[in-house]
Amino acid sequence: MKIKLFTLLLIILSIYLHPINAQNSDIENKVNELLSKMTLDEKIGQMNQYNGFWEVTGPEPVGGNAKMKYEHLKSGRVGSMFNITGVENVRKIQKIAVENSRLGIPLIFGYDVIHGYKTISPIPLAEAASWDLKAIELSSRIAAIEASAVGLNWSFGPMVDISRDPRWGRVMEGAGEDPYLGSKIGAARVKGFQGNDLAASNTVAACAKHFAAYGFSEAGRDYNIVDIGTSTLYNVALPPFKAAVDAGVRTLMNSFNLLNGIPATGSSFLQRDILKDGWAFDGFVVSDWASGREMIAHGYASDLKQVAEFSLTAGSDMDMESYAYISHLKELVEAGTVPISIVDDAVKRILRVKFELGLFDDPYKYCNAEREKTLLNHPDHHKAALDMAKKSIVLLKNKGNLLPLKKEKQKIAVIGALANDKNSPIGSWRAMGEDNSAVSVLEGLSAYPENTIKYAKGADLTQGRTSVLFELKINETDKSGFAEAIELAKKSDLVIMVLGEHGFQTGEGRSRANLDLPGVQQELLEAVYQANKNIVLVLMNGRPLILNWAEEHVPAILETWHLGSQSGNAIAQVLYGDYNPSGKLPMSFPRSVGQIPIYYNHYSTGRPNPSNLVYWSHYNDESNEPLYPFGFGLSYTNFKYSDLKIDGSDQKNIKVQVNIKNTGTVKGEEVVQLYIHDKFASVTRPVKELKGFEKIELMPGETKNIKFLLTDKELGFYNNKGEYLVEPGEFEIMVGTNSKDVIRAAFELQ
Ligand code: NOJ
Repeated sequence: MKIKLFTLLLIILSIYLHPINAQNSDIENKVNELLSKMTLDEKIGQMNQYNGFWEVTGPEPVGGNAKMKYEHLKSGRVGSMFNITGVENVRKIQKIAVENSRLGIPLIFGYDVIHGYKTISPIPLAEAASWDLKAIELSSRIAAIEASAVGLNWSFGPMVDISRDPRWGRVMEGAGEDPYLGSKIGAARVKGFQGNDLAASNTVAACAKHFAAYGFSEAGRDYNIVDIGTSTLYNVALPPFKAAVDAGVRTLMNSFNLLNGIPATGSSFLQRDILKDGWAFDGFVVSDWASGREMIAHGYASDLKQVAEFSLTAGSDMDMESYAYISHLKELVEAGTVPISIVDDAVKRILRVKFELGLFDDPYKYCNAEREKTLLNHPDHHKAALDMAKKSIVLLKNKGNLLPLKKEKQKIAVIGALANDKNSPIGSWRAMGEDNSAVSVLEGLSAYPENTIKYAKGADLTQGRTSVLFELKINETDKSGFAEAIELAKKSDLVIMVLGEHGFQTGEGRSRANLDLPGVQQELLEAVYQANKNIVLVLMNGRPLILNWAEEHVPAILETWHLGSQSGNAIAQVLYGDYNPSGKLPMSFPRSVGQIPIYYNHYSTGRPNPSNLVYWSHYNDESNEPLYPFGFGLSYTNFKYSDLKIDGSDQKNIKVQVNIKNTGTVKGEEVVQLYIHDKFASVTRPVKELKGFEKIELMPGETKNIKFLLTDKELGFYNNKGEYLVEPGEFEIMVGTNSKDVIRAAFELQ
């Protein structure tokens, strides 16, 4: 396969015709001046990134060893290191690069700071359930403060991949299934990481990943291929990346997947046409871990030399762990296969971000031992993590108002290994969050001495070694603890069962084909239910699970995800009503694996309606509906929606208003959700699309009038050429407490 001369010419032209949108011409001058002094080897060095020497977050690196890495650091042949943490370590490595290399160009240090560095916040999917953009921004801000205190200046987050498939283990890292919510959250996280001033010593460059469409991995199996239509690509997968770019994100990471036959790392359609030319992105793109080299396994590049040629030509500026640029780029440039202008463009992008971070003013500015000592695990960070954790909890069922728990000398049985687990709540992608450092549910409950708490494990969730690097072994057989749990349940007024997934059961490489409660937990639940039906099921998991039996039988269900350092405190406060749950699901919960992909913003089929014949779009053995829809979540109070009004007199600003009343007896927060349906369009639109939301607090009896504005931004869509269109016609507006329970009105766009 040869890259055509014509394509190359186009790329070169586009580099010149789209001059970099430099906010800071001073930085541009410095970048150009430095570039003019660099040899080809030094330029290629800037495009080369190595994993550290101590930690791996991918398969065993091929082709590199520590000695070689040190040599390359000294000779200016490395632009970035990752997986190196701690002021001392970072300083040591930075010193090698700065003091030994000819031009002394500082390294940029990356790390997967996904939901905290030392103080661990809820997993991102949980945070998304808060629908609280300020709180999410703060969570990323705190992650940046801690990461930048240990020498780091680049977070490999946020992950903004939309996914409709809970089998995919990485749904825990993202904001769920909706592009509108995902875009808002992505932008909030970019702001949180980068702050207002990238040069400040407590901000880091963010990295929107994985570009693009990785969340559509076929059948939910990680690293699998992606084959989606253009409408889904433009309207669902890409918008959160666009939002991150609009929010000023300085880097993107490309992805492992094929997209319609082309590896994302080798896709100039994604990285050049859309990102760099279309969106005028002037930061840089890093590959994912060896995603360049993996183009060989994909059957796209035949050897590492082609990997270098194809990746760079396609716009992948920095090579993470493929060793392709460092090994072959020089010969490719010298042979004229890769024009130097493409290399220069990549190097300028990388240098630009380094200048913006202030690394040339002081390469050690993030290496401050005092900050490292005082800021990690700072009490204020834990306070925010607790607040975030409470806001992330979703109440799924509360029959007979079993919750909140009464503080009146009840005998409460707590059952389930996860109740006593201080490790799982820290979740996957825990950065430097310490193992076993979360507040467990049992510890959280101990703050409420009014009731008597007794614990029985019931069953172990896992067997043997639990580590992020290895396959988890789930206990499928040992039920020896059942009898004790059943006895305890019999003697208790109420049972809290804490069940779900181990913290390492989701995340990268952690796809599941079954989404039930793992191991013997379902059997334990049913056995305990026979002994005492008064059960509050507290779920800990990193993805939607299938909970049909529980929904049918168990009176109260609380979705608590993996909530981070403060998990047990947050759960206890919600159980006792000191915080009224306000979370709403960012992903649909299916009734069975066969329904997947299942998502609220689907299209209408031509045969959507049940008829007395069989010929309509449905399953013979399952409903079409999810068990819990997108946006669903209960409160200890109730909200009534009324008086939905639309004022279309100003067609550029359609005004929508609605009244929401707290009809219960306690104060509560509600996420008011607005959906649209563009009824007829040149490219069919989904039956519902979220286009606005607001989180409000209401006192008992209080009514608030909430207003939304719909402009071209909300009413348009991308056609199959990627053009944004706003088409006149009928629109239905739906406002409600979740994507299913809505009140409706309509208007006509002229
Ligand atoms: C692979 C993952 O896909 C990516 O998200 C991560 O940032 C890199 N490894 C580095 O750890």
